[in-house]
Amino acid sequence: MADTLTITDNRTGTSYELPIQDGTIRAMDLRKIKTGADDFGLMTYDPAFMNTANCRSAITYIDGDNGILLYRGYPIEQLAEQSDYLETAYLLLFGELPTAAQRQAWVRDITVHTMLHENVKTFIQGFQYDAHPMGIFLSTVGALSTFNRDAKQIFEKRSRLLQMNRLIAKVPTIAAYAYRHNIGRPYNQPDNDLSFTGNFLNMLFKMTELKYQPNPVLSRALDVLFILHADHEQNCSTAVMRSIGSSQVDPYSAMAGAAAALYGPLHGGANEAVVRMLAEIGSVSKVPEFIKKVKSGEGHSRLMGFGHRVYKSYDPRAKVIKKIADLVFSVTGKNPLLEIALELERIALEDDYFVSRKLYPNVDFYSGIIYQAMGFPTEMFPVMFAIPRTTGWLAQWEEMLVDQEQKIARPRQIYTGQQTRDYVPQEARG
Ligand code: SDX
Repeated sequence: MADTLTITDNRTGTSYELPIQDGTIRAMDLRKIKTGADDFGLMTYDPAFMNTANCRSAITYIDGDNGILLYRGYPIEQLAEQSDYLETAYLLLFGELPTAAQRQAWVRDITVHTMLHENVKTFIQGFQYDAHPMGIFLSTVGALSTFNRDAKQIFEKRSRLLQMNRLIAKVPTIAAYAYRHNIGRPYNQPDNDLSFTGNFLNMLFKMTELKYQPNPVLSRALDVLFILHADHEQNCSTAVMRSIGSSQVDPYSAMAGAAAALYGPLHGGANEAVVRMLAEIGSVSKVPEFIKKVKSGEGHSRLMGFGHRVYKSYDPRAKVIKKIADLVFSVTGKNPLLEIALELERIALEDDYFVSRKLYPNVDFYSGIIYQAMGFPTEMFPVMFAIPRTTGWLAQWEEMLVDQEQKIARPRQIYTGQQTRDYVPQEARG
């Protein structure tokens, strides 16, 4: 049997043979299907790209039915167990795990870029004290494009690598500055003696001590959480990174847009929404009442942290995060919201409303509970997601840039507006 699709257009009786490649047909092949010479030809109509592949990618593979997530072929569970965030970032960007020498050079290349231009402090100080840290984060990422004018050389590999090193290194500093701004404390400078996550904790929580000593358990927990959040193929914010990047703008400007997409409560803002939802439920005894409200659609309540466009089984990242919770709580003490979350999960996984819609906990269901136990304010949770996703956005951005099939993204539409009509003078308007 041939790898082709035979389509008969019943409007004309004409049949067409379309090649099937990688489980897809090319949308442009549909344009051959016309009713006459002046017909534009067929398009696909796919709101929210539910069933549209817009690129070829070798970075991350997801099998949503079987709950499989691979970064460059390595299972997420093994990376979470045996790797750390910077090594995983190297893997995502360059395609292979680093040798010892490559790892040493990579860690140095990141560490030397953790500082921010002093003017960035002034920029951040312009925000209200209670500005949402994600608003500060995405604005500052965009502002960095004005500090790194060489970033426009996007087709120079060395320039691309320099910008990627800068962004991966600086996003924890931006996040920490936003947090310190919110709490009215002086900014802490990076400490290059510390690990990536240890330094992040240092910039967040160092007070008057001369040398901050990050808790090794919490540093490790952050490493695992960052590994789990580093990439996730063509999710909403990554699709934005690729789309903005396709106009050939610099990566800082593209990433500001990607961070804005991640901010939404249906995407990376869900971890913040989960903790607010658990606090609103208030106790284990109130869980059945809340589930009833969600199922009835009352107030458009959703079970935040549940459901996924791709995973129609348990998100493998949520399984790992649940284990990390025990590790963190051994240091911080258990977060009382955990009991409510566990009861919510128990009931939902038995309830046909959720089972029939294949709604399972996703990466955001437990992450917020952990961040809260670690002392992060709820509004910092989407920022905690954006820090590691910086690597995924940049890996996907570069893959798009060097893909010969790609060009500026510009979807089509089905026009539903008025047909041509003449201008109506003011006095003649009804
Ligand atoms: C992330 O794409 C990625 O990879 C994202 C991400 C990443 O790493 O980049 O994994 C990170 O964004 C995880 C998702 C975080 N968002 C949430 O937890 C918010 C709550 N979840 C939903 O809003 C929803 O599940 C989405 C947005 C995640 C997925 O939405 P879909 O695939 O468009 O599904 P849908 O909205 O069409 O829902 C299908 C049905 C509907 O019911 P019916 O209209 O058929 O009766 O399921 C229902 C929805 O009402 N539904 C839910 C629900 N999610 C879907 N009902 C209650 N609670 C929910 N959470």
